[in-house]
Amino acid sequence: MTKDVKFLGRTLVARDQAHLWHPYTQMKTAPPPLPIVRGEGVYLYTEDGKRLLDGISSWWVNIHGHSHPRLNQALFDQAQQLEHVMFAGCTHAPAVDLAERLVQLLPPGLTRVFYSDNGSTAVEVALKLAHQYWRNLGQPERRSFITLHHAYHGDTVGAMSASEASVFTQAFTPLLFDVTRVDAPYCYRCPLGLERTSCRIDCLGSLEAALKRHGGTVAAVLIEPMLQAAGGMIVWPAEFLAGARRLCDAYGTLLIADEVLTGFGRTGRMFACEHAHVTPDIICLSKALTAGYLPLGATVTTGRIFDAFLSDDRARTFFHGHSFTANPLACAVACASLDLFRESDVIARVTRLEAQLRAGLAPLTGLPHVGDVRVIGGVGIVELVGDKGTKQADGYLDDIGPRLAAAFLERGLLVRPLGHIVYFMPPYVITDEEVEWALGQIEEVVTAAIGGS
Ligand SMILES: Cc1ncc(COP(=O)(O)O)c(C=O)c1O
Repeated sequence: MTKDVKFLGRTLVARDQAHLWHPYTQMKTAPPPLPIVRGEGVYLYTEDGKRLLDGISSWWVNIHGHSHPRLNQALFDQAQQLEHVMFAGCTHAPAVDLAERLVQLLPPGLTRVFYSDNGSTAVEVALKLAHQYWRNLGQPERRSFITLHHAYHGDTVGAMSASEASVFTQAFTPLLFDVTRVDAPYCYRCPLGLERTSCRIDCLGSLEAALKRHGGTVAAVLIEPMLQAAGGMIVWPAEFLAGARRLCDAYGTLLIADEVLTGFGRTGRMFACEHAHVTPDIICLSKALTAGYLPLGATVTTGRIFDAFLSDDRARTFFHGHSFTANPLACAVACASLDLFRESDVIARVTRLEAQLRAGLAPLTGLPHVGDVRVIGGVGIVELVGDKGTKQADGYLDDIGPRLAAAFLERGLLVRPLGHIVYFMPPYVITDEEVEWALGQIEEVVTAAIGGS
């Protein structure tokens, strides 16, 4: 009996449920997974013929739409040439082309590209680089990290350590290293109880105090510039980012920008650091780097950091790598994605999307349980609360999230709230009409779930 005959008559979901284990999924209680058989543009198609608008860009990775003919062609062409080769002792054109193009596009001064294969590894590499940088310079005491409350940097052990302690990390607490966590500029829930209209970004005081207290032991400050994503879709004032750079300079430590989500236009600039004209010492990229096609990470540093690893002593080498470092297929698709940025004004499209999200979501602020509506670039966010006065909310495990997700799905919209945080983050190729339709669904579903005024 061949495998195909054995599977005859069984749905994809039935076969999945016999053998698979899904991420972030309580396999006992979660609804069955969506059997996706095809993607085109902003739509995904299920085995049983449903069409879903991808309102979360397939976990924030897709930008030019699914199964884009130009990206498909780039992948096919590269596969004819070279599918993969190890990257220690070998190089290839897609990796070099992509590095040259990234260096041109990134904030000035970021000139050395170290590839890995996802967002967590891009962060892990950044942490290890910062640590060894100081060690190579003869300052091994600079080995601690400062990160922000509400941060999320990934699921590997270093990235988890740097993230906010949460339900995502609690089972692993004994494995994690200590970091110093400081206030994030979460204006709706200001850590100092101030109002953005009158404050002077006073929350930076917490970072300054930590730098003062820990002085010469800090290797780096790690941030998600302008948009802290999984920790609550928190949109920053650009002044906080500028201030973080200023403080890192003043206290002589490194600034690492985790742009795994924000890179490649998501906040309305090619890179979020551009909002404050900041060059970090290290930047972490992934997700939309390959337009959502293939896993690839890049950690890009300044020449100063690279130079600290140059030595006749091989012990000063950066001993880190992965089997699929700089995979040529992924690099070729990333280059094709950058071609699309150059040929059509993708950033202008995101700016238009931002205006439409602002106008479309604004009316929701009047609803009784809508605490805050915020928008940056191609991301629209609605924060739901139990009570507008106290701003009480139950966080990621709030069951309003799955309930809303199910209601959106019924209407053909794939959106996966982070507990009480509902957000819409479509591929940039979405049309104005499709945005209008999706925002209409969000307004109706949210209103029905929480009760209109
Ligand atoms: C800011 C940020 N950093 C790192 C990561 C981890 O990326 P990955 O899921 O590819 O490991 C994520 C994922 O959502 C992220 O949003």
